[in-house]
Amino acid sequence: MSIADDPDRAPARSHLYAMGMSEEEMRRPAVGIATTWTGTMPCNLTHRELAAHVAEGVRAAGGTPMEFNTIAVSDNLTMNTPGMRTSLVSREVIADSIELMGLAHGFDALVAIVGCDKTVPAAIMALARLDVPSVVLYSGSMMPGRWRGRDVTIQDMWEALGERAVGRLDQAELDDLAKHACPGAGTCAAQYTANTMGGVADFLGLAPFGVGDVPAVAADKNAAARRVGEIAMEALARDARPSRVLTADALHNAIVSVAAMGGSTNAVLHLLAIAREANLPLEIDEIGEVCRRVPIITGLKPSGGDYTALDLWRAGGTSLVARRLLEAGLLRENVTLVDGRTLAEVAADAEETPGQQVVRTAAEPFKRRGALAILRGSLAPDGCVLKLGGKADFRHEGPARVYDSEAACTAAIDAGLIVPGDVIVVRYEGPAGGPGMREMLSITGPLVGRGLGDTVALVTDGRFSGVSHGLVIGHVAPEAYHGGPIALVRDGDTVIVDSAAGTLDLVVPEAELAERRAAWRRPERAVERGVLSKYVITVGSASDGAVTI
Ligand code: FES
Repeated sequence: MSIADDPDRAPARSHLYAMGMSEEEMRRPAVGIATTWTGTMPCNLTHRELAAHVAEGVRAAGGTPMEFNTIAVSDNLTMNTPGMRTSLVSREVIADSIELMGLAHGFDALVAIVGCDKTVPAAIMALARLDVPSVVLYSGSMMPGRWRGRDVTIQDMWEALGERAVGRLDQAELDDLAKHACPGAGTCAAQYTANTMGGVADFLGLAPFGVGDVPAVAADKNAAARRVGEIAMEALARDARPSRVLTADALHNAIVSVAAMGGSTNAVLHLLAIAREANLPLEIDEIGEVCRRVPIITGLKPSGGDYTALDLWRAGGTSLVARRLLEAGLLRENVTLVDGRTLAEVAADAEETPGQQVVRTAAEPFKRRGALAILRGSLAPDGCVLKLGGKADFRHEGPARVYDSEAACTAAIDAGLIVPGDVIVVRYEGPAGGPGMREMLSITGPLVGRGLGDTVALVTDGRFSGVSHGLVIGHVAPEAYHGGPIALVRDGDTVIVDSAAGTLDLVVPEAELAERRAAWRRPERAVERGVLSKYVITVGSASDGAVTI
């Protein structure tokens, strides 16, 4: 019985009247519209406007929209600050807050408007828990900036720090680049984490293909948002709930999309977390297997080439990627898409711009090997993630340079203490140890900027920005805080990375390791109260997606 007709719900009706709602509107399906708007970053700046257009679409299709907001944390603004600890934690808070609102209000359907990195997996996790017909609206990428005649993104900003350090740029040039790198609202402008996860939402079937590609400030975005409101009502009519959309085959397709588009290492964490929320079995090695056989077919920064998200949209977007992957037999077709189309229809609808250079075929890809590899070995018994970035397989053997925090490592790089051949080990930066598994962009950016990106390996139980590249291995599990082997490494120990063999090994005799293990003591926790303290207690291993359930 609706609120309008239940005699005992008169007190609830009084509050809906207070918002200007009619009884007829109370009888219509209630569609929750979750936005992750905050005024603290460009990434999600358009969400309130988009929510208004989604609401229009819901109303036009016979529903009653009800908007609500969650938090969001910018990775870029918090990078290399204590605030970076909050980024991955925010994924859990956003998921929990959307879930709570859904449980509280009993929405008949939901639209989640997402943008910045953690907001995308967070919303999908919440929608999987609530399991009412749901649509994800990815708010879209930022336009690239222009500087000295070339397209630039936030990646150029971070690498410019390293160039300044070695005297290739001065401070005035760095400041000038900062004024041009990010020209307006939207998510970081190439295949970094946010756009990777936007693609995941498409290939999971939860976001309509062709909507997320549209850049945040493009004129077509508001109309696309209105259409998403209508799709939510259609999904309600078809009972297209996440348990029917987010299937094992859809998850497989999403993993393929990450590999084929040269996606971010963070996608590994998020795919594992989404799988757990959807009760789907997924082991970290399965992601590695897909990445081993699926080539990178888009020429997007940072792994495939030099193109930006704007270029992908102009070329034909993720629909065109779907067409190419279907042609190569790399996708599973027995999936339900939230807008009712089949994958074959999406592929047929794709509008390829004649002469486009951004999306290739699987037979003639940009890179033969996917962007990621999963390694295991004596240094990472539960697995870790190598950001291969489309490089050929490689073997790197070198002496460990061990740092117990990101800041200590950054200082060593600045002091010129890192030399070609080294293996930097940064630990106590894992999900519980950090806490929050900080992104190591303040290390990888300067390494690349100093010309050490191909000769120095970085091994950490922390994680990486989608912008990061180089010989980088993160998500090492078990993490140092829980006494994983990474806690036992000492300066000068030999570490071997072998991507072809899929191994990461510490070359220290077992007897010596046993002595070190016996002497090891867990360090004092960095935080003792508040949300981060709760997170330390509840968060699981990175190899399980660092979820808090
Ligand atoms: Fe928000 Fe990059 S920091 S998308």
